[in-house]
Amino acid sequence: MTRALVVFESMFGNTERVARAVAVGLAEHTDVDVVRAGPGVVPRDDVDLVVVGGPTHAFGMSRPSTRVSAGQQGAGESAAGGTGLREWLDTLPGPMGHRPATATFDTRIRKPGVPGSAARSAARRLRHAGLPVVVPPMSFWVRGTGGPLLPGEEDRARSWGRELAQTVARVP
Ligand SMILES: Cc1cc2nc3c(=O)[nH]c(=O)nc-3n(C[C@H](O)[C@H](O)[C@H](O)COP(=O)(O)O)c2cc1C
Repeated sequence: MTRALVVFESMFGNTERVARAVAVGLAEHTDVDVVRAGPGVVPRDDVDLVVVGGPTHAFGMSRPSTRVSAGQQGAGESAAGGTGLREWLDTLPGPMGHRPATATFDTRIRKPGVPGSAARSAARRLRHAGLPVVVPPMSFWVRGTGGPLLPGEEDRARSWGRELAQTVARVP
């Protein structure tokens, strides 16, 4: 593996913490960059793994309306009119000249019986864009809308990143 790119959306900061922990795990095996989803984010030609993560909003990826709602609930990052993960994924494959492996994660509230996962929606979108999704979508848990992450989740994210790099290294 040459290089990985972790692209994240985060309004209260929890998904960003997970993204950075995933990158620490990946970095044991490959060079890695971490970047917030936004216009102009295009994986370089030497990126062979793109990992995307965002908060679960209303059972899937955020929308402008749910980001407004997050802002009203005290989120620091107000991307309401801008680019969330969904809008960024809509730009793919765009100018990308290659087809890197991909993987997705999200943060969400652990409550029995609450369905929906931004990671699952993002994986579907990536497949539609013709990109290989190499591992099942992964969720990391927050206590409530603003967080915090449940104990141990950053460790779990580091391990997931490490194992993901090993998986991609085995893909022919
Ligand atoms: C408008 C809105 C809708 C949400 N909907 C869900 C949901 O359907 N399922 C869930 O588990 N969490 C839901 N949440 C909680 C978010 O998943 C939580 O805020 C997020 O994981 C925090 O990540 P961040 O700090 O990176 O923004 C919602 C939060 C907001 C603001």
